[in-house]
This record gives sequence, C-alpha cells and structure tokens, in this order.
Amino acid sequence: MDKIKIGIINVSDRASKGIYEDIPGKAIVATLKEYLISSWEAVYAVIPDEENQIAAKMIEMADEQGCCLIVTSGGTGPAKRDVTPEATEAVCQKMMPGFGELMRQESLKYVPTAILSRQTAGIRNNTLIVNLPGKPKAIRECLDAVFPAIPYCIDLVE
Ligand code: MTE
Repeated sequence: MDKIKIGIINVSDRASKGIYEDIPGKAIVATLKEYLISSWEAVYAVIPDEENQIAAKMIEMADEQGCCLIVTSGGTGPAKRDVTPEATEAVCQKMMPGFGELMRQESLKYVPTAILSRQTAGIRNNTLIVNLPGKPKAIRECLDAVFPAIPYCIDLVE
C-alpha cells in the first residue's frame, strides 16, 4: 500500500524569502509523529501570504500529490496580508467550522489573543485542510486539541 501523504504548508512572506527557516513545518511534523502510527510522508511547501499561491499549492497537494491531509501554518490573523483562511475557503467544497471553533476555545486557555486567529478547516474532494496559527507553541496547542477528530474525518470523506 502507498504511504499516506500529508501536505505541510508554511504560509509566511519572510520564510518564503529564506529569511526564516521552516520552523512551523518542523513543529507540525514533531506533533504529527506523536499521533500517527501508520507510516506517512510529509510534502512540504513554504509559500508567501498570497491567496492565489496558497490556493494553487493546496490544489496541487490535494489533487496531484494525493495528500489526505493538508496542514497550514500562519496567515490566519487580522493583518492585511493574512489570507490563509480565504485561500482555504476558495479551494474547499465544504467548510468544517468546528475545527476553528475548538482550536480557538482551547487556545483561549493559553492566550487571550487566540481570538485573533480566523483559522478554519475544510474538505476538498477527499482531502481535509486544517489551518493553524504560525507560532510553534500555537501549532502544538491547536493540533493537540483537534487531532482526535482528524483520522475519523478523513475516513468519512474517502
Ligand atoms: N493560538 C495559540 N494556541 N497560541 C498563540 O500563541 N497566537 C494568536 C492566535 N492564536 C496564538 C494563538 C495570535 S497573537 C494571532 S495574531 C493569531 O493566532 C494569528 O496568528 P497567525 O497570523 O500566525 O496565523
């Protein structure tokens, strides 16, 4: 059987220019490793905060590379260039608002600014796309909250 593929998209203007290394990508992999028991491989991308480029990478990872899960980091806040949720909505047929609701609810236990994240999730064909904020600490807190629902959701859309 082919290995499960998981897309990891770091959305960051500065990381995409090489100013920062892909620390969020490493934080996502470290957390997923603790949860996933079957073998899987990560497909990485570092993309600037441009809606069209984020959406194009999501489509490529879902439709061409066959990722069953795509996790994004960053670009969920209120700043002008934060457009990851918009790109997610643009490529998904169905939104899954419960993921964002639960992540914000859990994150509020750690930081009052969690209310600033517009993170969401959605389904494109049989791929689940989940947005996380960009900080490694936030990545861990949010993935811990929603991971139990992820394999079940992927099973349902297969
Ligand atoms: N969620 C958690 N769990 N921990 C955090 O530190 N930071 C918040 C929020 N969610 C944070 C969090 C802040 S300060 C912002 S601006 C938003 O996520 C958006 O972050 P992003 O633009 O990196 O996606």
